[in-house]
Amino acid sequence: TIPPDLRSLADYEQRARAHLPAATWAHVEDRAGRGITLDDNRAAFDRVRLLPRALASLAGGSTASTLLGVHHPCPVLLGPVAYQRLAHAEGELATIRAATALGTGSVLSTLSSVPLEQVAAARLQAADQLDVAPAPLWFQLYLQPRREDSATLLRRAEAAGYQAIVLTIDAGVKRSGFVLPPGVEAANLAGMEAPRHVASAGGRLLFGTALTDAVPTWEDLAWLRAATDLPVLVKGMLVGDDLERALAAGADGLILSNHGGRVLDGLPATLDLLPQVAAAVAGRVPVLLDGGVRTGTDVVKALCLGAIAVLVARPVLHALAVAGLAGVAHLCHLLRAELELAMAQLGCATLDDLTEERLFTTLR
Ligand code: FNR
Repeated sequence: TIPPDLRSLADYEQRARAHLPAATWAHVEDRAGRGITLDDNRAAFDRVRLLPRALASLAGGSTASTLLGVHHPCPVLLGPVAYQRLAHAEGELATIRAATALGTGSVLSTLSSVPLEQVAAARLQAADQLDVAPAPLWFQLYLQPRREDSATLLRRAEAAGYQAIVLTIDAGVKRSGFVLPPGVEAANLAGMEAPRHVASAGGRLLFGTALTDAVPTWEDLAWLRAATDLPVLVKGMLVGDDLERALAAGADGLILSNHGGRVLDGLPATLDLLPQVAAAVAGRVPVLLDGGVRTGTDVVKALCLGAIAVLVARPVLHALAVAGLAGVAHLCHLLRAELELAMAQLGCATLDDLTEERLFTTLR
């Protein structure tokens, strides 16, 4: 079912455009402002060059790693992406089945268009059918205007077997003119007060409105840390004192993200920021990165600069739009195969071999 001319994530991106209504495509590719940050996320990867180790043995090589105590066959996760039924009728169900088949870790968005319990059940069912271990599954939390609603989401995610909570801190307020088509909705939030992300600024003034009162704060992080025994990862831009504060508040991991250039234009590329964040964290917790990861060599570059794993977001929608479950499975396979090839050509048998010494630094 996969046409032979689809050989890279770029091929899927190009093809997806023809498969999606213009408004949905515009939503997927949305950027803040002039798109400086969006473009820079990619450009940062393209500025880095690699240097191989000569004559290194590749015996016993593997792309596997352990993250928060859980085995990952490949250090690439499918990141949280809202409303996946925009791209394919099966939406998040297709994604989780594909991820399970390939052992790929994934993060379900609060704004999933399929209820989180159904996604968790589909994961177990697929693992059972395929006779494989269920792939790692995390839940991304957008704090809700009412704390009891956030607590309900947390309890539901725990009960359904999600293994970590990702608190997204960078999209508290956002302009959005996109209107969901009939049949696609925030399936987890039925009966809850409208989330701030749905009730977006939409061109109106912000200050003095309920939107700013509902933006998450340090108190919310402290509440979350106390409210669950699951590992909590913080997703967004965390530098300097904020980073220390998040670690002191008990964050178990960081996902360095500028929300794919969708929120504040002018933020630095995540890859450019990574060395300083990794140095500050100094191995105390895992640092993950997203934003513009599209090839195996991108994964290599992020790991050489201090990330323990990366996430991809828009590519999930591209793959879903083009080929549903098979497309997402192919996406997971492509990135792992490209990573293996890059590691072999670099003379790196394991992810631990991906260090700064593999980078040609004169350019940076
Ligand atoms: C997102 N992103 C996102 N993040 C999050 O924490 N919760 C969410 O519900 C969503 N939803 C969402 C929808 C769409 C259409 C896009 C494109 C993105 C952000 C996403 O997880 C990621 O941080 C960025 O998209 C950067 O990665 P890519 O797209 O460059 O791989």
